[in-house]
Amino acid sequence: MRKQIAAANWKMNLTWAQGKKLLQDILAAGISLKDNQHAIFGVPSPYLTLADVVVREKSNYAVSAQNCYDKKSGAYTGEIAAEMLQSVGIKYCIVGHSERREYFNESNQMLAEKLNRCLENGITPIFCCGEPLPVREAGAQNSHVELQLKESLFHLSADQLKSIVIAYEPIWAIGTGKTASTEQAQEMHACVRAVLAEKYSASVADEISILYGGSVKANNAKELFSCPDVDGGLVGGASLVAADFITIIQSLK
Ligand code: PGA
Repeated sequence: MRKQIAAANWKMNLTWAQGKKLLQDILAAGISLKDNQHAIFGVPSPYLTLADVVVREKSNYAVSAQNCYDKKSGAYTGEIAAEMLQSVGIKYCIVGHSERREYFNESNQMLAEKLNRCLENGITPIFCCGEPLPVREAGAQNSHVELQLKESLFHLSADQLKSIVIAYEPIWAIGTGKTASTEQAQEMHACVRAVLAEKYSASVADEISILYGGSVKANNAKELFSCPDVDGGLVGGASLVAADFITIIQSLK
């Protein structure tokens, strides 16, 4: 069975004292994860190793970076290389979140390079895709996401593809409280899987975990995650509240 993942994206929120308490409260719930279920915390970069110390002993819990740079190393003040993440034991990195695409002009081509850097360093990228509202309103969401996948992923080998996680996040649903319906989520996830199946194979596509993101909450996670092609969620706002994220982890299939 595919990995089922509840991934928190704290974005630029919380002090370390608040973040540490949040992690401790979530761990204190003592949720027993099945072998294929994972809880991942996308914490701000100053907390990566601190957070890793808190979750490290718990199997199937891990810490994720929220971003890395597309170059290997060098004179890029303020940036973080995938090799640096690897060197301190970080196993996951969110790549291409819509906020980074929009505010930091990250292109599909740049994201292809970021994926390369992650994979070279044994880091599992959580690759984000998804359409803005005008594209959805024009009914062009499938081709929009297909292009994102083609331009950022299609240079990868099948084996490389199998080591990435995809998050479909319709931009109109992020932080808006307006969640995609289960029909909209399932339809898009099936579309992503079909695009991968066509390029690679149905069996390769079937192995890829595809998370849904965009106003996942404690009260809608179970329904969203029950869709056959939805393998968990990438969660912003609700991941900042221990009780909510606990419920979301418990909603994994
Ligand atoms: P949200 O954010 O859950 O607050 O909508 C999701 C995301 O941006 O990953």
